[in-house]
Amino acid sequence: MSLEKAKQVAAYRAVDEFVKSDCVFGVGSGSTVVYAVQRLAERVETENLKVICIPTSFQAKQLIIKHKLTLGELETNPVIDVTIDGADEVDSNMTLIKGGGGCLLQEKIVASCSKKLVVIADYTKDSQKLGDRYKKGIPIEVIPMAYIPIKNKIASLFGGELKLRNAIAKAGPVVTDNGNFILDWVFTNQDLDWEKVSSVIKMIPGVVETGLFVKMCQKAYFGQAEGTVVERF
Ligand code: A5P
Repeated sequence: MSLEKAKQVAAYRAVDEFVKSDCVFGVGSGSTVVYAVQRLAERVETENLKVICIPTSFQAKQLIIKHKLTLGELETNPVIDVTIDGADEVDSNMTLIKGGGGCLLQEKIVASCSKKLVVIADYTKDSQKLGDRYKKGIPIEVIPMAYIPIKNKIASLFGGELKLRNAIAKAGPVVTDNGNFILDWVFTNQDLDWEKVSSVIKMIPGVVETGLFVKMCQKAYFGQAEGTVVERF
C-alpha cells in the first residue's frame, strides 16, 4: 500500500469521527489534508451536513473553494469545533512539528481557536522524540529584516543550525502567506523542554511563530502501510 493510501485512510477516519452537522471546521494544510477535504465534501453532499470551513492557508482556502464547501473566517467564526491538520512529526507526548509546507502561523492561530486539534498523518510521522523521523528541523516564521540576528540568537541559546528556507521555483527565499521568511532550525539536542524552548524563541524580536505545537493536539491518526490506522491520544 502506498504512502498516499496511508494518508487517505488516516484522513477519512478523522473526518468520519469528528465532523458533524452544524459544526465549524478548521481546515489544515499540506498533502494529507487534501484527503480530509475530499471526504468532507463527500459527506456534506451525501448527508447534507452544514459545516463552515475555516482555512489555515491559501492552499486550504483553495481546497474549500474547489470542493464548494462553505468558507468562513475567524472574524465571523472565532470558535472552531474541530481542526484537522497534518504534521511533520508527532512525538510520544503529542508534541508536533508543523510548518514543512510553510503554513505554521495560520495553522497555529486556527488551532488555538479550536476546541480540538486532530492530526492526520502517515506512519512516517510517528516518532518517540522530535527529530527521530523528521530531519529538516523546526520551522520558525520570522520577519525578513531580522532573520540573521534571530538565526544567531537561537543557535547560541540552544545549539544546532538554522537554515533560511529557499524557494524551489524562484531564486531566493520562501515567502510565507503572511509575507515572512522561514528558518528551519536543525536542532541537535532532542531532550529539550519544547514548551520552554518555544516560548523563549517566541520572545526574540522578529520571531512571528514557531512550528512547535505543544499541548495543542488531542488526537493523532497515523495511516499504516497495510491500510489500518493507529490512534494516539
Ligand atoms: C504545512 O505547513 C504543514 O504544517 C503541514 O501540515 C505538514 O507539513 C504536513 O504536511 P503533509 O500532510 O503534506 O505531510
